[in-house]
Amino acid sequence: MLCHQTLLAIHNKVKEMPRKVSYGVDFDEEYDAYDDYHDDYDYNHGNGIDENETAWEPPVTKEEIVYQNVWRCPICTYDNDEYMSSCDICGVLRNPLIKSSNNGQSSTVVPNLEKPSTSDAPSNKKIENANLKSNAKSSNKSPPLISKDKPQHMENNNMTQTHKISSEFNNMTMSAESGTSKIANKGKMGKTGITASRSQYKPEKWMLLDEGEDRLSQLNLAIVGHVDSGKSTLSGRLLHLLGQISQKQMHKFEKEAKLQGKGSFAYAWALDESAEERERGITMTVGVAFFNSKKHHVVVLDSPGHKDFVPNMISGATQADAAILVIDASLGAFEAGIDSAGGQTREHAQLIRSFGVDQIIVSVNKMDAVQYSKERFDNIKLQLGVFLRSCNFKDSNVTWVPLSAMENQNLVAPPSDARLLSWYKGGSLLEAIDAFQPPAREYSKPLLMPICDVIKLPSQGQVSACGKLESGALRNGTKVMILPSGDIGTVRSLERDSQACSIARAGDNVAVTLQNIDANVVISGGVLCHPDFPVSVTNHLELKILVLDVQTPVLIGSQLEFHIHHAKEVARVSKIVSLLDAKTGKVTKKSPRCLLSKQTAVVEVMLQGEVCVDEFSSSRALGRVFLRSSGTTVAVGVVTRVIVDDQS
Ligand code: GTP
Ligand code: MG
Repeated sequence: MLCHQTLLAIHNKVKEMPRKVSYGVDFDEEYDAYDDYHDDYDYNHGNGIDENETAWEPPVTKEEIVYQNVWRCPICTYDNDEYMSSCDICGVLRNPLIKSSNNGQSSTVVPNLEKPSTSDAPSNKKIENANLKSNAKSSNKSPPLISKDKPQHMENNNMTQTHKISSEFNNMTMSAESGTSKIANKGKMGKTGITASRSQYKPEKWMLLDEGEDRLSQLNLAIVGHVDSGKSTLSGRLLHLLGQISQKQMHKFEKEAKLQGKGSFAYAWALDESAEERERGITMTVGVAFFNSKKHHVVVLDSPGHKDFVPNMISGATQADAAILVIDASLGAFEAGIDSAGGQTREHAQLIRSFGVDQIIVSVNKMDAVQYSKERFDNIKLQLGVFLRSCNFKDSNVTWVPLSAMENQNLVAPPSDARLLSWYKGGSLLEAIDAFQPPAREYSKPLLMPICDVIKLPSQGQVSACGKLESGALRNGTKVMILPSGDIGTVRSLERDSQACSIARAGDNVAVTLQNIDANVVISGGVLCHPDFPVSVTNHLELKILVLDVQTPVLIGSQLEFHIHHAKEVARVSKIVSLLDAKTGKVTKKSPRCLLSKQTAVVEVMLQGEVCVDEFSSSRALGRVFLRSSGTTVAVGVVTRVIVDDQS
């Protein structure tokens, strides 16, 4: 069985996951007492940046540069080995607007407005994860792609033009007419020859939650928001206040951060573990930690705010049941976050709503930087409230909490600063977290667990799949099917929050150690499921999408990044089936030539590799998709059909 120290060591050693897990208090034996700490620690953080700190500047280049055996990511400038099809750091797929032809030569794709090309027969490449270097090595040998093309630029309009984007998306009826494609569910037949329907599933007694069981409800809480708004600082501070980070460990972070000239990032270091994150002062992969509130067992998913790392944010925060949207109250910073061109407050709020999250806390952070001004808070609430309503967040499900993570105001106790106390009468952040409604769980449905991370211990012949159980339950000895391979393995042990546990149920975030299985078939982006109720594995899908604010229309032939749970693939729009009325779901036009901002449509996409999916009507977690291009989310959507092609 994996103990938590082992797991942590592995997480630190191999950089192959879109997230990193903090396993609670770190009992560091080599701790030195930092007696001088309180004397020399600089509390004067101003607007979050110490004088001698250098803020990380986003890279200027947006073109892919290819050297011998490496290609430089055009988004984050990381040099990747040539066999990687997506960036090892930011997860962006390698130049999705450029395709490799059969002979390995690269060429620019010219969208065909007339009809879909048939030359893009999908390969049978299995899912791989951008952050899984070891898997990529063995499974992906795509030839290098070389291009000097400038990516398409897409940006939103300004804040005042708030559109009913997520609102329209969430109101879309799921029964829209589709095209004439031959339709079937490959997964239920293809891999296993089994055609069991989910409705026939009968859960065993142990799988269901015992009503009398005194158990905190599991709450997967995504911390999202614009870059530098203080998400990691807030998360680190909460963990420290709630006893999850020891005083010794905190002093160590403070001392080391100060030595690196990053004193103000000490709390963020609890979540930002990698040397690169600490050096740059930004989060790059989702940080995972946990604490208990009165009512919930909270799994914190601290997301990266920089737009380059939205793919990692999607992979991590897609598990969220609820979210804290962190806003930087300082002058100019809030405005940058809601700015149409690159403001991640907007994109994160839209994405979170599209993940199905409907209850959020808006933490208006850095109130110390605006002297705890009521006017500033009210102004932010007014402006952002309009936008959140347009994203279909109900006012009653949004809690506004002014605070300062740095000065520890209003996090787990009422504020002590007289300026805030004079006008704020609401509860603290922790009280707001406790007020979240426990999410409904699908205990009585067949097992479904999208795999987020994979931990391999070759010396012990062990492999563990980590992720959130979307439905069903697991215990030692349970037989599971691993997709996309279709292999069957047995659960050897289970770990929740670094502790061994006997049963994991829907909603739990677990590490599942498997036996009787080839470790190479367990890959991030794959799925664990009940052997009799597998989901589909396919590369041809029909989607219902809502196009966000884009400057370049979506055309037949457009190549986009396709994100679904923890998997991503290059997708090509092969057909635009119909345009829909967003409210009624009725077809307003068949086979339109292109899609513009805010249009709702049914499209078909061909993926370069296969992904594990289900129709949205059967599984929300496996049926939500996000289409991105050049670092921007172009459309959100749901899977309406899994299409079987004639040749398959
Ligand atoms: P990304 O993950 O890269 O998007 O950043 P983040 O949102 O996690 O921000 P982070 O916690 O790394 O903090 C960024 C800067 O804001 C650091 O210098 C923090 O010290 C500072 N900061 C965070 N909270 C506060 C606060 O309440 N007041 C002030 N003045 N500064 C803060
Ligand atoms: Mg951060």
